[in-house]
Amino acid sequence: MQQNMVQVNDLAKSFKRQNGETFFAVKGVSFEIGKGEIFSLLGPNGAGKTTTISMISGLLSPTRGDATIGGYSITKQPLEAKKLLGVIPQEIALYLSLNARQNLEFFGKLYGLSGAELNKRVDEVLEFIDLTDRQKDKVETFSGGMKRRVNIGVGLLHHPQLIYMDEPTVGIDPQNRRRILDTVQRLRQEMGMTVLYTSHLMEEVQEISDRVAIVDHGEIIACGTVGQLIQKIGEEDRLIFNVGAQKVPDSFLEKLKANIVGVSNATYEHHEIQEGTVTESLEIGAGRIIVFAKRGRKALPHIIQLADEAEIDVYSVEVREPDLEAVFLALTGRALRD
Ligand SMILES: Nc1ncnc2c1ncn2[C@@H]1O[C@H](COP(=O)(O)OP(=O)(O)OP(=O)(O)O)[C@@H](O)[C@H]1O
Ligand SMILES: [Mg+2]
Repeated sequence: MQQNMVQVNDLAKSFKRQNGETFFAVKGVSFEIGKGEIFSLLGPNGAGKTTTISMISGLLSPTRGDATIGGYSITKQPLEAKKLLGVIPQEIALYLSLNARQNLEFFGKLYGLSGAELNKRVDEVLEFIDLTDRQKDKVETFSGGMKRRVNIGVGLLHHPQLIYMDEPTVGIDPQNRRRILDTVQRLRQEMGMTVLYTSHLMEEVQEISDRVAIVDHGEIIACGTVGQLIQKIGEEDRLIFNVGAQKVPDSFLEKLKANIVGVSNATYEHHEIQEGTVTESLEIGAGRIIVFAKRGRKALPHIIQLADEAEIDVYSVEVREPDLEAVFLALTGRALRD
């Protein structure tokens, strides 16, 4: 069996509060990351993602537990472990009055690169982060997304095998966000790297990760592939029908449950305007039928037909497949978003 790139065993960190009270920001987490895997920590603000990353980077000493990188203990063999690792911190740390190239050269020297080797590596990294054209521009003139890309470049200079990216898309515009997500995939494809990614954004974690650990209040509350996590809560789709102004009777909802295979529940909300559906609701000014069903797309035409027979006007339909947001909601009773 192949050795894991990262092995984390019962890692915990406590801090003292202002009032002298001790609290655990990370309460004993264990997980492993295989070579070449993209693994994400997904959790809300304050969940303990950065604290975990800081411990497994050797920046913060754990209160309890240990982690290995490539077999080297981060507490007992930190130099060996850190050689394999590139960290892209949550806070961007660059010299704003230097240009992109100068920043990379400065950090490259810190990693012990010099001369032709340094030059070559800086060229390669600039190419990879797609800033070759702008390398002579001062970083202070860069957008947030471009600064973030320089930050990613800094983490790559010493050819690490493993990279940690702590919320790299926060505060970044959609176009640059897209680029950063593509970069994560390219790190693996083009450089064979292992990636530990953190975010509180369900969509991006769902898109890029091989496996996800959902973190809440310093604990991993679930871990697995997106598919496995969703299976935990049952694989029901939510079908949302925006319907006309007439009241939908309970008997109609009962009929859906009784007659359509896979439908487990159906509810009706009259005149309720919910976040995210404001425009639709305003357009039609009526209600919504929400149907929970296994294989929702199969059930859909049957529901429409019954609605038609009952003379219910259906203006639009949305099929929401179960996602990590639903998993978090089911496990914690809270939404992942702030
Ligand atoms: N140096 C410190 N001293 C005291 N408390 C700390 C320290 N660092 C972190 N904490 C606390 O530990 C908890 C976890 O913080 P952490 O930064 O790891 O969360 P996070 O998941 O990275 O959140 P975010 O998404 O906001 O970055 C928080 O309650 C935070 O206030
Ligand atoms: Mg953080």
